[in-house]
Amino acid sequence: MALTYLPLPGTPVHDLDTPALIVDLDIAEANILKMQAFANKSGVALRPHVKNHKSPYWARKQIAAGAIGVCVAKVSEAEVMAEGGIGDIFVANEIVTAPKISRLMSVAARAKVAVAVDTEQNLKDLSAAAQKHGVELGVLVDVNVRINRCGVEPGAPAVALARKASGMPGIRFEGFMGYEGHIAGAGIDPAARKETIDSLDKLLFTVRAAEDAGIPVKVVSSGGTSTYTVTGAIERVTEIQAGSYIFMDGAYLKEMDDFTSAMTVLGTVISRPTADKAILDCGLKSVSNSSGQPRIVGTPGAEFLALNAEHGHVKLEGEARKLKVGDKVHLLPMHGESTINIHNEYFCIRKGVLEAVIPVAARGMFR
Ligand SMILES: Cc1ncc(COP(=O)(O)O)c(C=O)c1O
Repeated sequence: MALTYLPLPGTPVHDLDTPALIVDLDIAEANILKMQAFANKSGVALRPHVKNHKSPYWARKQIAAGAIGVCVAKVSEAEVMAEGGIGDIFVANEIVTAPKISRLMSVAARAKVAVAVDTEQNLKDLSAAAQKHGVELGVLVDVNVRINRCGVEPGAPAVALARKASGMPGIRFEGFMGYEGHIAGAGIDPAARKETIDSLDKLLFTVRAAEDAGIPVKVVSSGGTSTYTVTGAIERVTEIQAGSYIFMDGAYLKEMDDFTSAMTVLGTVISRPTADKAILDCGLKSVSNSSGQPRIVGTPGAEFLALNAEHGHVKLEGEARKLKVGDKVHLLPMHGESTINIHNEYFCIRKGVLEAVIPVAARGMFR
């Protein structure tokens, strides 16, 4: 990646050129440690999903803190993680096309790899490819725990698939995955908590049925940032897949305060067309408006109105009207991962100054 702008360590955050994806290292590291402490206390392993941060740098910090490996959504993310030295990768998604299956086998030749499966045909294709490449591939049967996305139905259909996987050459059947990603705020909202327990019941019932049928189940993988306190406390769940807790975007901050916001996009005022309006150099190409417009933090009276491709419109009241052309403002994206995915690098700050510039190594890796 061509780094055309590389400020020196020690540069104060407000001297960084913009738009820039800023991460406060003290906060992100504290978030990493806090989730790991929860996992340790609950006796559950942590396998963070890295589709959020897309960077082996952060994955290595999570593993150094005690995580057992990572989850990814895409083969290309798995490739970047393996290249970055991550030795245990679970592709928590269905990988079905021949080119991707072949690439997955290459990753499995250099790291411990498992993948989610929800059809027999996919199992057969993976088994054939694993034999051809001389590798062993872990498999978790993906159970639909009411997310209604991928996943085989709980109970008999999932157990039948697990039985097929158990006997297939090249395949190592590890257990079941069930991601309850349709639930928000399980830590505080009793209805969300109940829905988490009900959803997980689908997974646990399936695990019991498999064990009753004589199929050993080693791994039960589930849980995200919204549900970790409930899912992680369930004894039979062996690992949680939470990811967004590392930076906490605006949408997650609306539903919980367990972790602290660590990431903003820094922008510059490039025009002041009227007394009550500023235009920023941040548009859709530097901050996502998925889940809502970004929120301006640290500049009271400034409210984000709208995004063009390369411009942000800000309404100014009170003190915020003192903003001048050239001033910098921090934007909190409502959706962190779709914002990260449009940046080439993280500018990592500690105590207000630049410590490191880290590539978003799996940026755009969606294949
Ligand atoms: C399968 C799976 N597991 C885990 C996660 C992580 O969830 P969160 O970002 O809420 O922590 C995701 C996120 O979409 C996911 O798709």
